[in-house]
Amino acid sequence: MTRKTSNPATLAVIGGTGAEGGGLALRWAAAGHRVIIGSRDSAKAAAAAGELRALLPAGSGRLEGAASGAAAKEAAVVVLTVPFAAQMTTALALKPVLGGKILVDVTVPLVPPKVSTVQLPAGGSCVAQVQKELGPGVRVVSAFQNVSAHKLKKLEQAIACDVLVCADDKEARERVIELAADAGLRGINAGPLANSAAAEALTSLLIWINRAYKVPDAGIAITGLG
Ligand SMILES: NC(=O)c1ccc[n+]([C@@H]2O[C@H](COP(=O)([O-])OP(=O)(O)OC[C@H]3O[C@@H](n4cnc5c(N)ncnc54)[C@H](OP(=O)(O)O)[C@@H]3O)[C@@H](O)[C@H]2O)c1
Repeated sequence: MTRKTSNPATLAVIGGTGAEGGGLALRWAAAGHRVIIGSRDSAKAAAAAGELRALLPAGSGRLEGAASGAAAKEAAVVVLTVPFAAQMTTALALKPVLGGKILVDVTVPLVPPKVSTVQLPAGGSCVAQVQKELGPGVRVVSAFQNVSAHKLKKLEQAIACDVLVCADDKEARERVIELAADAGLRGINAGPLANSAAAEALTSLLIWINRAYKVPDAGIAITGLG
């Protein structure tokens, strides 16, 4: 249940060959954006894009694959969906093509094997750490940490999970709330990037809850917003 976007853009989803990025890429393409899946291996990106294209309804946007650097260079908004262990090196490698752009970082600092226990890095948020390393020239936004990939791939279903959106750049935060809505999700203004620590921590709680209640995709909802 995506919505037709009123503000189509070129989006690069780095790590979109994986579960979470692939689900977001699918939803944004269905909403009418042009989406480029970025991978360390351009052939793998092309194959993943081909598989996702087969799931798209008529009238969707373009969905392509490319090497990560080329994808990020082409895009107005770059989305990072790689494991925590690869987050910083991947972000730093893309820095030369990220100037002035929004980088949506979906990373959760999971440290196997105890992924259902909160293990935030020293200093709190791993996304805030990326902003620190990339510097103010890149507009880092934290979002989507609490939405399971399982939900994203079911295009026809509404997703009962809010998206906490944190950034120090207010305009970038609003743009990502809009992108969440395009994907069929309610984005919530959750404040500055430092608050991303709460969203990152919540994911381990959700993994715990999934196991405890034997469900695939527990989520979160903010109440009281009318
Ligand atoms: N899965 C979920 O339900 C979910 C929900 C919320 C948040 N997240 C977060 O979203 C991120 C992606 O999750 P995921 O489940 O999609 O991960 P994943 O499938 O394990 O990995 C995604 C992609 O990251 C790239 N990658 C893997 N290892 C790498 C490495 N060592 N160096 C560079 N790139 C590497 C791979 O792309 P290429 O080989 O094509 O380069 C891979 O396809 C994680 O931080 C996760 O915590 C996931």
